[in-house]
Amino acid sequence: MNASTPTLALLGAAGAATASPVASAPTGVGVGGTAAAAEPLLSLRGAQVRLGSTLALTGVDLTVCRGQRLVLIGSNGSGKTTLLRLLHGLLTPDAGARTLHPLGAGSRVPRMAMLFQRPFLLQLSVRRNLHLALWLARVPAAERATRADEALERVGLQAQAGQLATALSGGQQQRLALARALALRPDILFLDEPTASLDPGASREVEAVVERLGEAGITVVMSTHNLGQARRLATHVAYLEAGRVPVHASAERFFNAAPPPAVHAFLRGENPWL
Ligand SMILES: Nc1ncnc2c1ncn2[C@@H]1O[C@H](COP(=O)(O)OP(=O)(O)OP(=O)(O)O)[C@@H](O)[C@H]1O
Ligand SMILES: [Mg+2]
Repeated sequence: MNASTPTLALLGAAGAATASPVASAPTGVGVGGTAAAAEPLLSLRGAQVRLGSTLALTGVDLTVCRGQRLVLIGSNGSGKTTLLRLLHGLLTPDAGARTLHPLGAGSRVPRMAMLFQRPFLLQLSVRRNLHLALWLARVPAAERATRADEALERVGLQAQAGQLATALSGGQQQRLALARALALRPDILFLDEPTASLDPGASREVEAVVERLGEAGITVVMSTHNLGQARRLATHVAYLEAGRVPVHASAERFFNAAPPPAVHAFLRGENPWL
C-alpha cells in the first residue's frame, strides 16, 4: 500500500465515505450497544503532525462518533500514540484541522481523559491517588469521595481502596489508572496500549472494564498490538501505516471483508517492512 491509497471506508455521520469496495453502512454503535444514528464527537480533516524531523501523521481524516470503541492498530512507529495525543488535544496539528463537536443539542463540549502506556501511581493509598487526581482536576472537595467511589466500583477495586497503590498487582494498578481517568467523568476516554505489560488474565480484567464503558455513555479510542483484543473490543478499527490512516471501517467489515494486501499481511504478522 502506498501513500496515495485512499481510506478504505469512513463510517459515521461526518465522514463522507470515499469510494471503496467495502464502504457502506454507516452507523455508530449507540450507547449501551444499541444501533443509533452516528453522532460525531471529534473529527480530524487533513491532519498533519511533525515531531522533530519525523512526519508522524499526515493527511489524516477521521471521525469518532458517540458510543464507539475505536481501536487503532498498526506496526511500531505507525503513529498510534501520536494520533491519540492529537485527538486528545495534547498536540495541535501543523496542518489540517481538529474539531470537537458539542454533545447532543446542548453546547457542552465533550470531556476527555487519557490513560497512558505507563501510568504513574504515587506511593499513597488507592483512594488518595484518586483524590489527588481529582484535586488536580479542580473537582470540588465535596464531590471527590463520591467520584472516587464510583470509579473504584467501575473497575472493581473498592476492596483495595485503603491499600498502597504501588503494592497492587500489575493488573490492579492498571485498573486504578483507569479509575483515575474515569473519575474525571470523561465523555471520550483515550487508552494507549492499556494492557501492554499485563498477563492474559489481567488483560481480560481491563478489557472487561473497557467493554462496559459504553453503558456509562463513554466513547473509547484505544491503541493495541493485540489483535485478539481488537476483535473482542472494537466497534470500529483504524489501521495506521507510516503516519496515515488508509483503512477506517466497522470492526465487522474490517475483520470479515477481504482486506487490502498490506492489512492482510499485518493481520497475519507478515509485514514486509518489519
Ligand atoms: N518525541 C518525538 N520526537 C521525534 N519523533 C517522535 C517522537 N515521538 C514519536 N516520534 C516518531 O513518530 C512516529 C510515530 O510514533 P508513535 O509513537 O506515534 O508510533 P506508535 O504507532 O504509537 O508506535 P508503538 O507501536 O511503538 O507505540 C515514529 O516514527 C516515532 O519515531
Ligand atoms: Mg505507541
